[in-house]
Amino acid sequence: MIKEALLKEIPSPCYVLEEKKLHNNLKVLDMVQKAAGAKIICALKGFAMFSAFPLVSKYLPGTTASSLHEAKLGFEEFGGEVHAYSPAYLAHEFDELMKYCGHITFNSINQLQKYHKRIIQSEHTISCALRINPEYAEVETDLYNPCIPGSRLGVTAEQLGDRLPEGIEGLHFHTLCESSAESLERTLNAVESKFGHLLHQANWLNMGGGHAITRKGYNLDLLITLIQNLRSNYDLEIILEPGSAVGWETGFLKATVLDIVESQGVKSAMLDTSFSAHMPDTIEMPYQPNIIGAEKGKVGAHVYKMGGLTCLAGDVIGDYAFSKPLQIGDTIILDDMIHYTMVKNHTFNGVNLPSIGIIKEDGSFQLVKQFGYEDYRDRLS
Ligand SMILES: Cc1ncc(COP(=O)(O)O)c(C=O)c1O
Repeated sequence: MIKEALLKEIPSPCYVLEEKKLHNNLKVLDMVQKAAGAKIICALKGFAMFSAFPLVSKYLPGTTASSLHEAKLGFEEFGGEVHAYSPAYLAHEFDELMKYCGHITFNSINQLQKYHKRIIQSEHTISCALRINPEYAEVETDLYNPCIPGSRLGVTAEQLGDRLPEGIEGLHFHTLCESSAESLERTLNAVESKFGHLLHQANWLNMGGGHAITRKGYNLDLLITLIQNLRSNYDLEIILEPGSAVGWETGFLKATVLDIVESQGVKSAMLDTSFSAHMPDTIEMPYQPNIIGAEKGKVGAHVYKMGGLTCLAGDVIGDYAFSKPLQIGDTIILDDMIHYTMVKNHTFNGVNLPSIGIIKEDGSFQLVKQFGYEDYRDRLS
């Protein structure tokens, strides 16, 4: 529980990272890398809070980027290795991208052929990979399933044939989403049965993200065994690039009740934040976040929907049962709001972005960033 006095110090709305929780996640990831002999790099698309990079980079050897901007952030703010994968690279950005990256994964053979010459001419060595599509995924939501029929992500075994294309040293797959080690095991069965002959030719295998390594109950022993088996069966370097697992349950979004409205017997608390603008995953995925001190569902006397600050009718998540009636000015703590929030937020409706802060390991609060009109204006023309 966050102490009342500390909560008062935090502006609203504000994403708050709890440093101790991040530290604990990093220790788990580090244990896995060491025990399995693998490399775990941070996927910036899921966690790019660079004020925390000094801590993260003590444990993880680098980052993975999906764009030039992420690669530059990884290079300048994190240091260490920078890997990149994008469904398609922009020709006018590629030379700069190469400056930051030591590993580049291509989504298609076309893309490899287009950029191979530039890679060879690069000032430093860049190791290249192809993203493969094992045509097997356990993810049930199509939005997050890169193996749906007709997927644009990755090369199928049929398209690849018997030999790795010239210039390719690695293979990359990403088919998991907040998944267990058991899901990875079944996925690896598909990968090995379709691409086993190519794994023998490769130097490294990147198993993407979506590994819920830091979630309670995750089977760490199985993950370690799977990695060890891959290394010994194929003589491969194994890389994992989670984003969620780095920021998993490491902080919250503080919000405030601005008004309470009632319509046809349904009560809504109007918050100074927005699900659409500040927590878009809750609507896209969709999922109902936890609120500290409230139960999800309609059971109880004091049930409210949480309404966002934009005019979008669907900028609302419910229902939550509280132990007593909500009042205007009450604080609402939306839990686990560090990964895939700051990286996806925007200023829809001109709504200002939440501040960003850290509860340091010594218990003090550090306000890292506040946004204003210029941040909104400078994204427009
Ligand atoms: C290619 C790739 N790597 C890594 C990740 C990070 O996944 P997660 O944050 O679920 O661990 C993603 C997420 O979409 C991805 O597409």
